[in-house]
Amino acid sequence: MSTKSRKTIIAGNWKMHKTVSEARALVSALAAGIGSELAGETLPDIVLCPTFICLPEVVSAVKGSPMQVGAQNMDYRDSGAYTGEVAAPMLKDLGVTHVVIGHSERRQYFGETDASVNLKAKAALSHGLIPIVCVGETLEEREAGSTDDVVSRQVKAAIKDMSDADVAKIVVAYEPVWAIGTGKNCESPEANRVCKLIRSCLPASQADMVPILYGGSVKPSTIDEQMQQPDIDGALVGGASLKAEEFLPIIKGGAKRSKLMSTKA
Ligand code: PGA
Repeated sequence: MSTKSRKTIIAGNWKMHKTVSEARALVSALAAGIGSELAGETLPDIVLCPTFICLPEVVSAVKGSPMQVGAQNMDYRDSGAYTGEVAAPMLKDLGVTHVVIGHSERRQYFGETDASVNLKAKAALSHGLIPIVCVGETLEEREAGSTDDVVSRQVKAAIKDMSDADVAKIVVAYEPVWAIGTGKNCESPEANRVCKLIRSCLPASQADMVPILYGGSVKPSTIDEQMQQPDIDGALVGGASLKAEEFLPIIKGGAKRSKLMSTKA
């Protein structure tokens, strides 16, 4: 397996947390930590995903640091009479680089479907945004033995009608729903197995290029083991991304993998 062209990515999904001033304080603590504790490290791509209203502040606060900014959702249409929605051109214009698509909370509470995930991922790419497409099974699905079917279906639906060149630009996050916010980690070898399965659902010519992240109760104490797995290229972190003292060691875990990959390249 060739991993040399794959980036390591550590993304923080802030969900519905942080006021604008709290967001500013967190970015400044992260920037300070990256500049001191992580100085000289081979940094992974670091992507902060705050709420929509914090995006302008966070985009401006990360300037001059290696951090990038992602949104947590977007509409697939470019503009129009869709009250409450935010479109890709608006995110792009702001300086946002990534967008989380199809997070399980959006699937569970906001009616996101495999079809809307596909429309949104394609719209993000058409505007030069990198979609972080989330997939993962519920506890019920895992217990019923349908994890592989569910995850394969979600991945194949997300990339439906996408050119191979576009598939090469996406990021996939495997987030078992039962591991999100529960403190229950999916064991690393099992997470790696599912990430490998996800890779096998991508066109063979692009599969080795697509970063596949693990998400679900990632913590400073779990990141090293997760980053040692051959098919886990980074992490999508919720709760532990809200505090600099927890997110910095996770970035450090990503930096170790990033270094390993750069020496292999
Ligand atoms: P968690 O969330 O790290 O709090 O489990 C992960 C996510 O939902 O992306």
